[in-house]
Amino acid sequence: MQPSDLVVAVLALALVALLLKQTDAASAFPPEVKTYTEKEARKFLKNLNLEWAKKTNAYYLAKWDYETDISRRTLGQELKVSFEVAKFQKQQRKEAVKYPREKFADKDIKRQLGMYSKLGAPGLPDDKYVTFQNAASDLAVARRCNRDFACKPYEGKQPDDEYREKLHCWLRFRYGKNSTDTFHQLVELAQQAASLDNYTDFTRYMLRNYEQDDLLDKMKLLVDGVHPLYKQLTAYCRHRLRQHYGPNSAPNGGFIPDHLIDDPLCKTDPVPRKPLDFPGALRAKGFTVRKIFFLPDEFYRSLNMTGVPDAVWDKSILESDANKTMSCKPVAQDFLDNKDYRIRVCGTVCEKTLFAASSLVTGVVYGMEMRSQPSVYRQTMNDAFVEGIGGLVALSLVSPNFLRYQGLLAGDDSVEMDVNLLYMIARNTILPAVRRYAQDRWRLEAMSRAVAPRDYNCKYWDMRQEIEGVEQPLDRSWRDFDAANLDLLMDPVGTPFKTTFGTILAFQMHRQLCIMAGLFDAEDPTRLPLHRCNLLNQPVVSNLLKKMMQVGGSKPWQEVLEQTIGTKELDPSAATTYFQPLHKFLEDHNVRTGEIVAWGKSQKECGLPRYKLMEKDADGAARGVPVPTLCLQQCVEEVVHGKVDSGICST
Ligand SMILES: *[C@@H]1O[C@H](CO)[C@@H](O)[C@H](O)[C@H]1NC(C)=O
Ligand SMILES: *[C@@H]1O[C@H](CO)[C@@H](O)[C@H](O)[C@H]1NC(C)=O
Ligand SMILES: *[C@@H]1O[C@H](CO)[C@@H](O)[C@H](O)[C@H]1NC(C)=O
Ligand SMILES: *[C@@H]1O[C@H](CO)[C@@H](O)[C@H](O)[C@H]1NC(C)=O
Repeated sequence: MQPSDLVVAVLALALVALLLKQTDAASAFPPEVKTYTEKEARKFLKNLNLEWAKKTNAYYLAKWDYETDISRRTLGQELKVSFEVAKFQKQQRKEAVKYPREKFADKDIKRQLGMYSKLGAPGLPDDKYVTFQNAASDLAVARRCNRDFACKPYEGKQPDDEYREKLHCWLRFRYGKNSTDTFHQLVELAQQAASLDNYTDFTRYMLRNYEQDDLLDKMKLLVDGVHPLYKQLTAYCRHRLRQHYGPNSAPNGGFIPDHLIDDPLCKTDPVPRKPLDFPGALRAKGFTVRKIFFLPDEFYRSLNMTGVPDAVWDKSILESDANKTMSCKPVAQDFLDNKDYRIRVCGTVCEKTLFAASSLVTGVVYGMEMRSQPSVYRQTMNDAFVEGIGGLVALSLVSPNFLRYQGLLAGDDSVEMDVNLLYMIARNTILPAVRRYAQDRWRLEAMSRAVAPRDYNCKYWDMRQEIEGVEQPLDRSWRDFDAANLDLLMDPVGTPFKTTFGTILAFQMHRQLCIMAGLFDAEDPTRLPLHRCNLLNQPVVSNLLKKMMQVGGSKPWQEVLEQTIGTKELDPSAATTYFQPLHKFLEDHNVRTGEIVAWGKSQKECGLPRYKLMEKDADGAARGVPVPTLCLQQCVEEVVHGKVDSGICST
């Protein structure tokens, strides 16, 4: 059986079960609405917020069970509940649009009714929603397989063999093959859902919580602001790769091949004299994953804010369980019942977990702070704010004085140490911000139907080449659909630009709060550098974060930002100020080594017909170049029955 058939079969089973057991969940609710006054609207919303939270809670529980223990049983249950909830939501939308909200004076009522009238995919007719879910699961299983079967690190090999083996691995885990049509189907259905929501385009639904028309232009400006540093980082990494893998691996002035972008070579300290070795320091101090999660918790407690309650830790999963197959996508889930919050992540002892922990703990604290808001506002707050505040927390946790206090940093402040530390921080902030931007741009263009299915793959590589300086290591066919390998890419509910927006916001808030706390002097940044500022124990931070979080989604983010840090605009200059010492170091280094801080045009193909590629593969096999092997079938079997684990640290 083909993997897609498997998923379809499971889905079909779930659907049959559902149809046999048809219960009209919504019939008892809401009370009959005869006249549509503002007062009635308020009453309708009050009930709806409670009922919506209850239904969604049941769905989140089923989803949690599925994602933490992937099996036919849990998948069937999750799908069943998701169809029930979608039915309820459609019913309620029918009611919500009866209220003439344009005529109402109360802004809050208008806002809530507006939100309840937009459903996205669950708003599709039942049969189409089934097809949509099928397509989405199909793609999701493929992505999960990619992660679960990650190749093991290579040590003690000749650089040539190592390069080849990594390339082989990259090829082996290309799960997009033959998914072009599945993705296209998803796009078409999403567009139908958008028209039911009265959107001209589904991407407007995806971006709705930003409430900003020129968002794309604004995001571009943000990325342009940090791109000079990104280019320095990329050129520097390219140089290191070439030193090890030889002159053709990542040519000067050219691209980094995709299979080497996370190479450990690009993660070592730029100044070896003062090694940072963060994972080593964590282990030496006896840090476990759980203990890493206590650091952001401690940040909030130092501000007299509620930390994460024990009950949350008890239900959370911080490391993958070898006896279960789980999704490793990091999640902080608010179950909307005002008591159940959980974190799920496949953590390992490394710096990446510290950054993830900061966002996840922030997700829980956020949920608790906004718990008095109606449930619609708890679901529609701008996700990028969680990332932003999470990033802000992380910046204090990696400040030299906090690290020293934790015994994770030896030696006094020095430029060398700053460079190593900032390099580590940049890899965990600036790199993902720029990479995700390229991915999200592609996702939006593809979802908006601006790209024909035959051009999906080329558009994807064009974006990555232009923005990231990364190219496909080999010629590709248009059917390869390499975008399928990216996490979050196909998630129709995932907010685009969350990471990019959040990262810039984190640095901007960090600068503003450090000024307010007297820990950064913009006039004299050498006296109190921005990257040494630590915001633990600062009452001014506490007040501001509470204010920000308690609003939830009840106000546009621009308003929230203005009322807290005094501006409606995001600004990348705080990030550039923060990384000044690193930027200077990389600039000098790249000049000294003659590394060109730019990349030209790629010579690699992206849209070959399949047969051409096969010819090339055959050629390659004759010359000892690895030939793609596909193991999707095996993978799906494993995911549905088997036991695989993986971590979020790639080295
Ligand atoms: C993809 O499609 C091609 C051509 O239809 C087929 O030969 C190949 O087996 C398919 N691969 C997978 C993994 O389904
Ligand atoms: C979309 O617009 C139509 C016509 O104006 C209206 O009847 C319908 O209720 C709207 N639907 C939503 C979800 O707003
Ligand atoms: C996994 O299963 C084995 C054998 O059944 C058991 O010994 C072990 O404790 C289990 N591990 C976890 C984390 O539950
Ligand atoms: C937390 O509360 C204590 C005791 O009331 C107070 O001394 C301290 O300044 C507060 N800290 C912050 C960051 O508000």
